[in-house]
Amino acid sequence: MQAKTGNFDRTGDIMIIPVFTGVEKAPNNTTVGLSRGAAIAVKAAASGDALTGKAGNSLEVWTKGCTVFFVGVGDKDSLTHKGARDAGAKCLAKLSKDLGTDIVVRFTSGWSSANMAAFAEGMILRDYAFDKYLGKDEDDSDKGEWSLECQAHERHIDALAAAVEKSASIATGVHLARDLANEPANRLYPEEFGRRALEWAEGKSNVEVEVWDYERLQKEGMQGVIAVGKGSIRKPCMVFFRLNPDAQKNEQVPCIVGKGITFDTGGISIKPSAGMWDMKYDMHGSATVFGLFQALWATGYSGRVNGITCMAENMPSAEAYRPGDVIDTYSGKTIEIFSTDAEGRNVLSDGLWKSAELNPSYIVDLATLTGACVVALGHEASGLWSNDKSLSDRIHEAGNAEDELAWPMPLLPAFEKEMTGSKIADVRNGGKGRWGGACTAAAFLKQFVQEREGEDGEKSQIPWAHLDIAGTAWGADTNACVANGGTGVHVRTLHRLITQD
Ligand code: BES
Ligand code: MN
Ligand code: ZN
Repeated sequence: MQAKTGNFDRTGDIMIIPVFTGVEKAPNNTTVGLSRGAAIAVKAAASGDALTGKAGNSLEVWTKGCTVFFVGVGDKDSLTHKGARDAGAKCLAKLSKDLGTDIVVRFTSGWSSANMAAFAEGMILRDYAFDKYLGKDEDDSDKGEWSLECQAHERHIDALAAAVEKSASIATGVHLARDLANEPANRLYPEEFGRRALEWAEGKSNVEVEVWDYERLQKEGMQGVIAVGKGSIRKPCMVFFRLNPDAQKNEQVPCIVGKGITFDTGGISIKPSAGMWDMKYDMHGSATVFGLFQALWATGYSGRVNGITCMAENMPSAEAYRPGDVIDTYSGKTIEIFSTDAEGRNVLSDGLWKSAELNPSYIVDLATLTGACVVALGHEASGLWSNDKSLSDRIHEAGNAEDELAWPMPLLPAFEKEMTGSKIADVRNGGKGRWGGACTAAAFLKQFVQEREGEDGEKSQIPWAHLDIAGTAWGADTNACVANGGTGVHVRTLHRLITQD
């Protein structure tokens, strides 16, 4: 979506007037640019009882050349950023391109810059469809792209213009993550993800992408990734993203790690068939990493950032790994496999260990890791585990600001003890029972976060946080900014976390 700002003058094909409760007549500037006849009709409609300004209330007035939509957003003083963002998203969802594609949103009186920006952001985020495999006559993509002009009082224009431009840039990353997540597993397999990452990096002077193929993984001893991926004819790989590789040379910078299981059948510990189709989304952690790099690049972030995605397809076959196997991971630690379906943690063991070699300021991993996390938090929040209170707080706050909730969960010593209690290997890939399944998974991952020496000469673990996005990567049907499919979750959270550092 093209998005820009302007003064109250032109009306577009569709003009949105968001209004608060208590409206008795059309707000000032509503009718600027309309013909005299249209202005009379619009004013008359707005002063009737049909327009209340309550959230969800709306009134459509057709006039020749421009359809005017009054959209209620509720009480002015209690409008939150989330309320404004969701109202914008719902508003866009209702529009039809049959009326034209040129949208003007006119923020009349009573709007803060932040809420205008949030409303516009909701519209921009919601402008997404994954329709590439649909026949042309079944969608309306041939009617062209939406264009959006946000009109406000002169004193708001600079702030609003900057915010809208930033939202549109970040949304390119969210939408890229959603595209990757929505892509079916026969089309997006590990090496195809790597190819798309390389293609993305082409022609961008401040990004680097490197793909470690199967052979390289073997040379490096990345048996965690290999064990999971070797049962598929689509071989595993690891993808490294680097933004501004020459900046901040001697400084510690963030590293973001993603689980990238392009399809999770469960492997030999095979899953039941009902719902298995959703396991094409099991690479959403890696999709978020890729989308985040696009968002950071598009907003012109000048700091250095590293990303690692661990790509594999988890299939049963004669070459697949098995329950009972013991694998040598990149870390040197061995893992006893209880379930081949607990594959995400195996690939992340290598990705996390590798990330520490980049001397990061902190590590954040994202993974659709456990069904138990969905049981705990539903589709409303990602689980957040961390060995560092300050990092955890910052992620929690960034998530709140973006309305991508990340809920703190405990890393208890008892869970670590459970996961390191194998009789024949250093770590076991499943807990002893199903209780606390999301917490035992996090405790497993913690075993692969390296320690380093601090200024005081004491060794301690690198600050690390784990986001279990099993419930938030898709299926979030209460999320107004997402209609269906992959959500692109945490691209915005991490963009905020990193750019505010
Ligand atoms: N990708 C799944 C987790 C998942 C399940 C995400 C449902 C979203 C919805 C993961 O690889 C998995 O299978 N986890 C197992 C772990 C268990 C075997 C210890 C699970 O959650 O059942
Ligand atoms: Mn699994
Ligand atoms: Zn999985």
